[in-house]
Amino acid sequence: MTELNIQLLDWQKQVWSDDTRFKIVAAGRRTGKSRLAAWMLIVNALQADKGHVFYVAPTQGQARDIMWQTLLELAHPIVSSSHINNLQIKLVNGATISLKGADRPETMRGVSLKFLVMDEYADMKPEVFEQILRPALADQKVVHCSLVHLWDVITLRPV
Ligand SMILES: Nc1ncnc2c1ncn2[C@@H]1O[C@H](COP(=O)(O)OP(=O)(O)OP(=O)(O)O)[C@@H](O)[C@H]1O
Ligand SMILES: [Mg+2]
Repeated sequence: MTELNIQLLDWQKQVWSDDTRFKIVAAGRRTGKSRLAAWMLIVNALQADKGHVFYVAPTQGQARDIMWQTLLELAHPIVSSSHINNLQIKLVNGATISLKGADRPETMRGVSLKFLVMDEYADMKPEVFEQILRPALADQKVVHCSLVHLWDVITLRPV
């Protein structure tokens, strides 16, 4: 089997190995939040046969700019197909990683997710998680959710 070359910084390892169900990372600029998110998406998708995982950014354009190329590069040995039109990557186990924009919540309704990352969360409406994505995680026995980059929310306005 092809091995992934997962390399994490010390703080990333700490978040990775913590078994809290809903993880929130509040960290400064360019500290490696999105990179950690990419590895978590890949490994959780690999552990979810035919399951779906979502990466959500404030807009779909941001999701593509931040994550598309990184995912393709890091997951390269285990990608079976990729479709830039709908921003979806299929892995060899049949699982899919989809990139979504929180500004278009209608594209995320009614799914069942194995894993979720919300990046640049400070720029999203809280309803997207509370009303749409939280329920999408509810019927899974083992789920995780990373709310990445809550820094602005925590420092500028209370949640
Ligand atoms: N574990 C790692 N190994 C190698 N490079 C890394 C690692 N983590 C992060 N980097 C590199 O550090 C830089 C910043 O990473 P990343 O974009 O993930 O940070 P970020 O916290 O999401 O930044 P931003 O504040 O812009 O959202 C990138 O060039 C990324 O490739
Ligand atoms: Mg980032």
